Amino acid sequence: MLGGFADHTTPLVRNCWYVAALASEVSREIISRRLLGIDVALYRTLAGETVAVRNRCLHRSFPLAKGKLVGDVLMCGYHGMQFDPSGRCVNMPAMPIVPTNANVRSFPTVERGPLVWIWMGDADHADESLVPDTSWLASPEWKTVSGSFHLKSDYVAMHENLLDQTHFPFLQPGAIGTPEYARSKLKVREEGDTVIIDRELRHSPPPGVYAMPTGLAGQPVDRF
Ligand code: FES
Repeated sequence: MLGGFADHTTPLVRNCWYVAALASEVSREIISRRLLGIDVALYRTLAGETVAVRNRCLHRSFPLAKGKLVGDVLMCGYHGMQFDPSGRCVNMPAMPIVPTNANVRSFPTVERGPLVWIWMGDADHADESLVPDTSWLASPEWKTVSGSFHLKSDYVAMHENLLDQTHFPFLQPGAIGTPEYARSKLKVREEGDTVIIDRELRHSPPPGVYAMPTGLAGQPVDRF
Protein backbone atom coordinates (compact mmCIF):
# COMPACT_ATOMS: atom_id res chain seq x y z
CA MET A 1 0.00 0.00 0.00
CA LEU A 2 1.45 3.37 -0.99
CA GLY A 3 0.86 6.58 0.90
CA GLY A 4 -0.70 4.94 3.96
CA PHE A 5 0.06 2.92 7.05
CA ALA A 6 1.02 -0.71 6.79
CA ASP A 7 -1.60 -3.21 7.85
CA HIS A 8 -2.14 -6.96 7.70
CA THR A 9 -2.63 -6.77 3.92
CA THR A 10 0.77 -5.14 3.32
CA PRO A 11 3.14 -7.58 1.57
CA LEU A 12 5.89 -8.97 3.77
CA VAL A 13 9.41 -7.69 3.15
CA ARG A 14 11.20 -10.85 2.06
CA ASN A 15 14.56 -9.51 0.92
CA CYS A 16 15.72 -8.93 4.45
CA TRP A 17 17.48 -10.86 7.25
CA TYR A 18 15.19 -12.14 9.98
CA VAL A 19 15.98 -13.96 13.21
CA ALA A 20 14.99 -17.57 12.59
CA ALA A 21 15.94 -19.01 15.96
CA LEU A 22 18.26 -18.74 18.90
CA ALA A 23 21.51 -20.49 18.06
CA SER A 24 20.93 -22.75 21.06
CA GLU A 25 17.69 -23.99 19.49
CA VAL A 26 19.34 -25.24 16.28
CA SER A 27 21.02 -28.61 16.73
CA ARG A 28 21.16 -32.10 15.29
CA GLU A 29 17.49 -32.39 16.30
CA ILE A 30 15.51 -30.99 13.37
CA ILE A 31 13.08 -28.25 14.38
CA SER A 32 10.37 -26.56 12.35
CA ARG A 33 9.32 -22.95 12.43
CA ARG A 34 6.84 -20.89 10.45
CA LEU A 35 8.63 -17.80 9.09
CA LEU A 36 6.92 -15.22 6.89
CA GLY A 37 4.14 -17.72 6.26
CA ILE A 38 6.51 -20.52 5.19
CA ASP A 39 7.27 -23.66 7.20
CA VAL A 40 11.02 -24.11 7.49
CA ALA A 41 13.05 -27.03 8.86
CA LEU A 42 16.23 -26.05 10.70
CA TYR A 43 19.20 -28.19 11.72
CA ARG A 44 22.99 -28.26 11.94
CA THR A 45 25.45 -30.19 9.81
CA LEU A 46 28.04 -32.39 11.49
CA ALA A 47 30.44 -29.45 11.12
CA GLY A 48 27.99 -27.20 12.98
CA GLU A 49 26.74 -25.13 10.02
CA THR A 50 23.10 -24.06 10.27
CA VAL A 51 20.77 -25.29 7.51
CA ALA A 52 17.27 -24.11 6.64
CA VAL A 53 15.10 -25.83 4.03
CA ARG A 54 11.43 -25.69 3.26
CA ASN A 55 9.64 -28.05 5.62
CA ARG A 56 7.76 -29.81 2.86
CA CYS A 57 8.91 -32.79 0.87
CA LEU A 58 8.48 -32.28 -2.87
CA HIS A 59 7.06 -35.78 -3.23
CA ARG A 60 3.97 -35.95 -1.01
CA SER A 61 4.42 -32.82 1.11
CA PHE A 62 5.54 -34.71 4.20
CA PRO A 63 7.03 -32.28 6.79
CA LEU A 64 10.77 -32.85 6.47
CA ALA A 65 11.36 -31.88 10.11
CA LYS A 66 9.66 -35.16 10.99
CA GLY A 67 12.30 -37.05 9.04
CA LYS A 68 15.82 -37.74 10.28
CA LEU A 69 19.40 -36.77 9.60
CA VAL A 70 21.77 -39.17 7.89
CA GLY A 71 25.06 -37.35 8.30
CA ASP A 72 24.37 -33.93 6.77
CA VAL A 73 21.53 -35.24 4.62
CA LEU A 74 17.89 -34.84 5.61
CA MET A 75 15.85 -37.97 4.94
CA CYS A 76 12.11 -37.68 4.50
CA GLY A 77 10.15 -39.79 6.94
CA TYR A 78 7.60 -40.93 4.36
CA HIS A 79 9.38 -42.59 1.41
CA GLY A 80 13.00 -41.87 2.29
CA MET A 81 14.00 -39.24 -0.26
CA GLN A 82 17.22 -37.56 0.86
CA PHE A 83 18.13 -33.90 0.53
CA ASP A 84 21.54 -32.32 1.05
CA PRO A 85 21.94 -28.98 2.90
CA SER A 86 21.41 -27.07 -0.35
CA GLY A 87 18.01 -28.77 -0.75
CA ARG A 88 19.17 -30.93 -3.68
CA CYS A 89 17.74 -34.44 -3.72
CA VAL A 90 20.67 -36.87 -3.58
CA ASN A 91 18.80 -40.14 -3.18
CA MET A 92 15.37 -41.36 -4.20
CA PRO A 93 15.02 -44.97 -2.97
CA ALA A 94 12.18 -45.86 -5.36
CA MET A 95 14.02 -44.58 -8.47
CA PRO A 96 17.35 -45.64 -9.96
CA ILE A 97 18.23 -42.08 -11.02
CA VAL A 98 17.49 -38.83 -9.18
CA PRO A 99 15.91 -36.20 -11.49
CA THR A 100 18.15 -33.13 -11.67
CA ASN A 101 15.26 -30.78 -10.83
CA ALA A 102 14.26 -32.62 -7.63
CA ASN A 103 15.02 -29.95 -5.04
CA VAL A 104 13.42 -28.44 -1.98
CA ARG A 105 14.02 -24.77 -1.44
CA SER A 106 16.85 -23.90 0.91
CA PHE A 107 17.31 -20.55 2.59
CA PRO A 108 20.58 -18.72 3.36
CA THR A 109 21.36 -18.58 7.08
CA VAL A 110 23.98 -16.74 9.11
CA GLU A 111 24.86 -17.38 12.73
CA ARG A 112 25.95 -14.34 14.72
CA GLY A 113 26.42 -14.75 18.46
CA PRO A 114 23.27 -16.16 20.02
CA LEU A 115 21.13 -15.64 16.89
CA VAL A 116 20.55 -17.50 13.65
CA TRP A 117 19.42 -15.20 10.84
CA ILE A 118 17.57 -16.31 7.73
CA TRP A 119 16.97 -14.72 4.31
CA MET A 120 13.51 -15.66 3.02
CA GLY A 121 13.72 -13.66 -0.19
CA ASP A 122 15.79 -13.88 -3.36
CA ALA A 123 18.92 -15.82 -2.34
CA ASP A 124 21.05 -13.88 -4.84
CA HIS A 125 20.52 -10.78 -2.69
CA ALA A 126 21.41 -12.41 0.62
CA ASP A 127 24.33 -10.17 1.50
CA GLU A 128 25.76 -11.12 4.92
CA SER A 129 27.01 -7.58 5.45
CA LEU A 130 23.34 -6.56 5.81
CA VAL A 131 22.82 -8.67 8.94
CA PRO A 132 21.99 -6.14 11.68
CA ASP A 133 24.81 -5.58 14.15
CA THR A 134 23.97 -7.20 17.48
CA SER A 135 27.59 -7.84 18.47
CA TRP A 136 26.96 -6.72 22.03
CA LEU A 137 24.83 -9.84 22.57
CA ALA A 138 28.00 -11.93 22.40
CA SER A 139 30.14 -9.48 24.35
CA PRO A 140 31.27 -10.53 27.85
CA GLU A 141 30.79 -6.89 28.89
CA TRP A 142 27.03 -7.27 28.55
CA LYS A 143 24.55 -9.43 30.37
CA THR A 144 21.67 -10.78 28.34
CA VAL A 145 18.46 -12.62 28.94
CA SER A 146 16.68 -14.46 26.17
CA GLY A 147 13.38 -16.09 25.45
CA SER A 148 10.39 -15.71 23.22
CA PHE A 149 6.80 -14.57 23.34
CA HIS A 150 4.02 -15.93 21.21
CA LEU A 151 1.96 -12.91 20.18
CA LYS A 152 -1.41 -13.80 18.72
CA SER A 153 -1.41 -10.69 16.59
CA ASP A 154 -0.45 -9.38 13.20
CA TYR A 155 3.19 -8.27 13.17
CA VAL A 156 2.15 -4.76 12.12
CA ALA A 157 0.25 -4.36 15.39
CA MET A 158 3.44 -5.31 17.23
CA HIS A 159 5.47 -2.69 15.35
CA GLU A 160 2.82 -0.11 16.09
CA ASN A 161 2.89 -0.98 19.77
CA LEU A 162 6.67 -0.61 19.95
CA LEU A 163 6.63 2.73 18.13
CA ASP A 164 3.74 4.12 20.15
CA GLN A 165 5.43 4.97 23.41
CA THR A 166 2.81 7.43 24.62
CA HIS A 167 0.88 4.50 26.11
CA PHE A 168 3.65 3.65 28.58
CA PRO A 169 2.45 5.83 31.50
CA PHE A 170 -1.04 4.37 31.26
CA LEU A 171 -0.54 0.72 30.41
CA GLN A 172 2.72 0.23 32.33
CA PRO A 173 2.77 3.04 34.91
CA GLY A 174 4.91 1.29 37.54
CA ALA A 175 7.40 -0.26 35.14
CA ILE A 176 8.42 1.80 32.12
CA GLY A 177 6.02 4.74 31.97
CA THR A 178 6.11 8.16 33.58
CA PRO A 179 3.88 11.18 32.82
CA GLU A 180 6.91 12.96 31.31
CA TYR A 181 7.29 10.11 28.84
CA ALA A 182 3.95 10.81 27.20
CA ARG A 183 4.82 14.51 26.83
CA SER A 184 8.36 14.08 25.55
CA LYS A 185 9.20 15.01 21.99
CA LEU A 186 10.56 12.65 19.38
CA LYS A 187 13.14 13.39 16.74
CA VAL A 188 12.79 11.09 13.75
CA ARG A 189 15.47 10.67 11.11
CA GLU A 190 16.40 8.20 8.41
CA GLU A 191 19.81 6.66 7.79
CA GLY A 192 19.73 4.47 4.71
CA ASP A 193 17.03 1.86 5.30
CA THR A 194 16.88 2.62 9.01
CA VAL A 195 14.43 4.91 10.77
CA ILE A 196 15.92 6.25 14.00
CA ILE A 197 13.85 7.80 16.76
CA ASP A 198 15.55 9.86 19.46
CA ARG A 199 13.71 10.72 22.63
CA GLU A 200 15.01 13.13 25.23
CA LEU A 201 13.65 13.39 28.76
CA ARG A 202 15.50 15.87 30.93
CA HIS A 203 15.27 16.42 34.66
CA SER A 204 12.52 13.93 35.42
CA PRO A 205 12.29 10.85 37.68
CA PRO A 206 13.06 7.54 35.97
CA PRO A 207 10.42 4.81 35.70
CA GLY A 208 10.60 1.76 37.94
CA VAL A 209 12.55 -0.41 35.54
CA TYR A 210 15.52 1.97 35.80
CA ALA A 211 14.81 3.48 39.22
CA MET A 212 14.95 0.21 41.11
CA PRO A 213 18.34 -1.11 39.92
CA THR A 214 19.98 2.34 40.00
CA GLY A 215 18.49 3.48 43.31
CA LEU A 216 17.41 6.76 41.68
CA ALA A 217 13.69 6.52 42.46
CA GLY A 218 12.10 9.98 42.66
CA GLN A 219 15.29 11.81 41.69
CA PRO A 220 15.52 13.93 38.55
CA VAL A 221 17.70 12.44 35.85
CA ASP A 222 18.33 13.07 32.15
CA ARG A 223 17.44 10.20 29.86
CA PHE A 224 17.94 9.75 26.14
S1 FES B 1 6.74 -37.62 0.89
FE1 FES B 1 8.86 -37.45 1.13
S2 FES B 1 9.66 -39.10 0.10
FE2 FES B 1 7.53 -39.27 -0.22
